[in-house]
Amino acid sequence: MRQANEAANLRISGPRLLSRLEVLGRIGDTGDGGVCRLALSDEDRLGRDQLVAWMRELDLEVHIDPIGNIVGVMAGETDGPAVMLGSHIDTVGTGGRYDGALGVMAGLEVIATLREAGFRPRRPIAIMAFTGEEGARFAPDLLGSCVWTGDMSVEEAYAIKDQAGLMVGDEVRRIGYAGSAAPGCVKTHAYVELHIEQGPVLDHSGGGVAAVTGVQAITWLEATVSGEPNHAGTTPMDVRRDANYAAARLMVAARDLTKTISGLRVNSGRFRTEPGNVNVVARQAVFSLDMRHPDDAPLTHAEAQMREAAAQIAASENVTITFSDLARFPATPFDERIVSKVEAAAKRLGYPVRRMPSGAGHDAQMMAGFVPTAMIFVPSINGRSHTPDEETRSEDVIAGANVLLSVALDLAQGDMPGR
Ligand code: GLV
Ligand code: MN
Ligand code: MN
Repeated sequence: MRQANEAANLRISGPRLLSRLEVLGRIGDTGDGGVCRLALSDEDRLGRDQLVAWMRELDLEVHIDPIGNIVGVMAGETDGPAVMLGSHIDTVGTGGRYDGALGVMAGLEVIATLREAGFRPRRPIAIMAFTGEEGARFAPDLLGSCVWTGDMSVEEAYAIKDQAGLMVGDEVRRIGYAGSAAPGCVKTHAYVELHIEQGPVLDHSGGGVAAVTGVQAITWLEATVSGEPNHAGTTPMDVRRDANYAAARLMVAARDLTKTISGLRVNSGRFRTEPGNVNVVARQAVFSLDMRHPDDAPLTHAEAQMREAAAQIAASENVTITFSDLARFPATPFDERIVSKVEAAAKRLGYPVRRMPSGAGHDAQMMAGFVPTAMIFVPSINGRSHTPDEETRSEDVIAGANVLLSVALDLAQGDMPGR
């Protein structure tokens, strides 16, 4: 009973958490408030070195698997499965200081708070940093969590190449993070991820925290349009086989689909063209297509519509269009019991709380197929994310971490059965 009361009164240290976020944010600092710490880059290695040093300072047992997932475990009174708190420390090329970093730094802060209080949880608590969540360098996204849960083999992951042709296997070895622990080696009771919302809902509706109910379905395709290069000034318009023009038509078709399929979101964020000369009709265009919907069926329908549009555009522009899969994840609901615990913890701590689904992808969606899982969101100022302007108020960072502490203790001390 004494322990239970003590646990309920514990609060994280805001300054300590903010200072770790600041230190990590300097690794890969782009000078404009942003961070570039692409998966398995030199900056990622430096971030990992710092994380492992912090884990060792907190006396965690550190395990690193062959894909470079890093997990630090605080022993519990019992030897059973751990409550895992985590996220990722890689960023997109133009990322901010909170996406992913918050969940990992807040996990460390939970441990630091327990250590300082001399409190030993009943179950072990593990802090996880998954490799390559972003998919910005190596697609698919959620790479580390796919390997951890067994959804992708290490060999398959190792063979993935970035845009420069460098392979995951070579890069994880090069930075010294191809560990020997078996993926999934830390037996897990439940997984909880604190993250910034990365959208405007919380910030534009009075703030507070969110108990996240699940993640929407995601499909990433790469389209390759092949035409014929020719002189820009002499080739008559009606005989051109212009790869860029056909690609543009296809992007417009994707955008138009969002007018008829409610809830659909599309984006073409990466585009390469050959030969890329002002006065040459484009021979080839290669671009990404990110499509998301809260439900699986409308997303499947949208993809079919896109393929049909591509066939029509290819015929009318006399080009060929092919698609390859970069990533495909179904809509993923979270565990109602943990979603309720997040809600209850926020209320108990006096923070406004609402339920909402996630628009962004997260490692939690892989973990959800493996163990009971949920997430906590805190507001992103003006909903800005994947940009140097990404910002979350200090009081919201602290609120999120206190909710994480409370839910972690509830799960570590309580009797909720696993799966
Ligand atoms: C991950 O950041 C995503 O693309 O949702
Ligand atoms: Mn993230
Ligand atoms: Mn992200």
